[in-house]
Amino acid sequence: MHTLIADGKAFNIKDSETVMHCLERNGLYVPHSCRQGHCGMCLIDLVSGKVKYKSEPICWEGEGSIVACRARAVTDIEVKLRK
Ligand code: FES
Repeated sequence: MHTLIADGKAFNIKDSETVMHCLERNGLYVPHSCRQGHCGMCLIDLVSGKVKYKSEPICWEGEGSIVACRARAVTDIEVKLRK
């Protein structure tokens, strides 16, 4: 269990859930389509912390961004949703 901070609000994120699932569970909407790491609609900004992927999503933009539908927190993280 880690802490996820998004747009100034703090939530508990389980090791077993994705960043997107945690945000949705707490009422924050992230645009999405595939939930498979392909479309890139769920890209958000990573302010601090580390995430991991089972396999690197093809739409990942690199350092400073995360693919919310596939990323799992490995430390406390802070993200910024894209509007
Ligand atoms: S919803 Fe398509 S990459 Fe996340």
